[in-house]
Amino acid sequence: MWKNVKALDSGAKIIDLFENDANRAGDFSVDALDMLFDYSKTSITEKARAALIDLANAAGVTAKRNAMFVGEKINETEGRAVLHTALRNLGGDPVVVDGADVMPEIHKTLDRMAQFSEDIRRGVFKGQGGAITDVVNIGIGGSDLGPAMATLALAPYQDGPNVHYVSNVDGAHIADTLRGLVATTTLVVVASKTFTTIETMTNARTAMAWMSETVTDPASQFAALSTAEDKTAAFGIPASRVFGFEDWVGGRYSLWGPIGFGIMIAVGNDAFRAFLRGAEAMDRHFQYADFMDNLPVMLALVGIWHNQICGHATRAVLPYDQRLMRLPAYLQQLEMESNGKSVQMDGSDVAVHTGPVVWGEPGTNGQHAFYQLIHQGSRVVPCEFLLAAEGHEADLVHQHQLLSANCLAQSEALMTGRSINVARDLMAAKGLVGDELERQARHRVFPGNRPSTTLLYPKLTPEVLGQIIALYEHRVFVEGVILGINSYDQWGVELGKELATALQPIVEGREAADDKDGSTRALVKYLQTRSV
Ligand code: F6P
Repeated sequence: MWKNVKALDSGAKIIDLFENDANRAGDFSVDALDMLFDYSKTSITEKARAALIDLANAAGVTAKRNAMFVGEKINETEGRAVLHTALRNLGGDPVVVDGADVMPEIHKTLDRMAQFSEDIRRGVFKGQGGAITDVVNIGIGGSDLGPAMATLALAPYQDGPNVHYVSNVDGAHIADTLRGLVATTTLVVVASKTFTTIETMTNARTAMAWMSETVTDPASQFAALSTAEDKTAAFGIPASRVFGFEDWVGGRYSLWGPIGFGIMIAVGNDAFRAFLRGAEAMDRHFQYADFMDNLPVMLALVGIWHNQICGHATRAVLPYDQRLMRLPAYLQQLEMESNGKSVQMDGSDVAVHTGPVVWGEPGTNGQHAFYQLIHQGSRVVPCEFLLAAEGHEADLVHQHQLLSANCLAQSEALMTGRSINVARDLMAAKGLVGDELERQARHRVFPGNRPSTTLLYPKLTPEVLGQIIALYEHRVFVEGVILGINSYDQWGVELGKELATALQPIVEGREAADDKDGSTRALVKYLQTRSV
């Protein structure tokens, strides 16, 4: 299946592809839902694209996509449907799981969330000291990264209480967050699909102890977002402040429902629904657009081209949008927890490398940090730029234009590079001659021919943010189908969790480290002898 496509990595120079096709920018981009996804600055040719589309067809992307949307149990290793799309199915068309339509319950929960968040925002729901000023969301992984990223992204729309996110079990995180908050006007929201995650439960107990120092009935200022109502009740949170969902919502896909409660508190129900509407629009686009005009499909095929065909092991996500500063971290979980696997659905080994290492920082900060390596390092890093046509700061349009110029300059520089002859001319103009001119010129050469894509969107509104996130979710799906893996389990996180549980009594000195390896024993010994 892969052979035909691999043979198409001709090593063609990207810039030459523009010479040969005056319409390359238009031919190798997708313009849909007000977005423009430009992948013309890659080495993909018409033939390569056709072969990539064949690859998607051969892998059965259409059938699997349809199976996902109708609630078939495509998460085969956990025996679950994959239905985060139902959470944003505002149209409400029935989605049937195990013989029952799940939509009425989803909308009921959404309405309950809206009611509670409005009560909080309007001061109807009060803490012991009055209206809620601060909300602390305690969760980790999918119960943190998505909502934290989206809350920050939608800062211009925030008109509710401050929403803080605590994830790390490192006590520094919760201590730094709670310091300065007033317990009597703070609501703690414990976000955990399973309500067993040790980091979250430890932080939740720390928050409860903190609350009980000043609040007479501390549990009255707690709410929970979870699938495990028995466990939330055992923690002392009444059902009226528990917002549930089903196990067919994967953790890293869960910000569209109760796990997104922090976003809703920050921006309100209307903006949250606009966010869902954006994702729903991307769902429909993904379902019905031809592959060549399909944003998630083409984003995925470009990813496959760079990673599996050209062999580039990493992917830099570079939002020229400060409020998307947590997007790379969010995508690390979405992409690497989903597609960081080595075994296919049927238990056999995957024949090619799977998900790339995803990393990045917002521009222009990254330019002054790691872009040196991207431009002149010995490895090729495919770059994914994101940029809005318009910022939110009406009085700082000139800064947005400067930001935009920087973004476009980077993809241009990556592609065109700078030849040795141009570098020599530059050195000659500085008055250098002979060996010194040659030596200095060599350092100023940019190899160029480095691939990048650019995703442009009108403005980072709730609706557009919903589209962007759903776009990346579906990209992960398509890449996973082509690789033949299950993108919806995460067995690779389990071993470390088990060993941490076993190591806890050893670190605490209650058990001996005798059966541990030499390195682990030495590390434990250092920690025990150096801690007070
Ligand atoms: O890291 C593993 C994981 O299971 C993630 O998939 C999930 O998002 C995270 O832990 C948190 O899980 P929970 O929401 O159950 O606390």
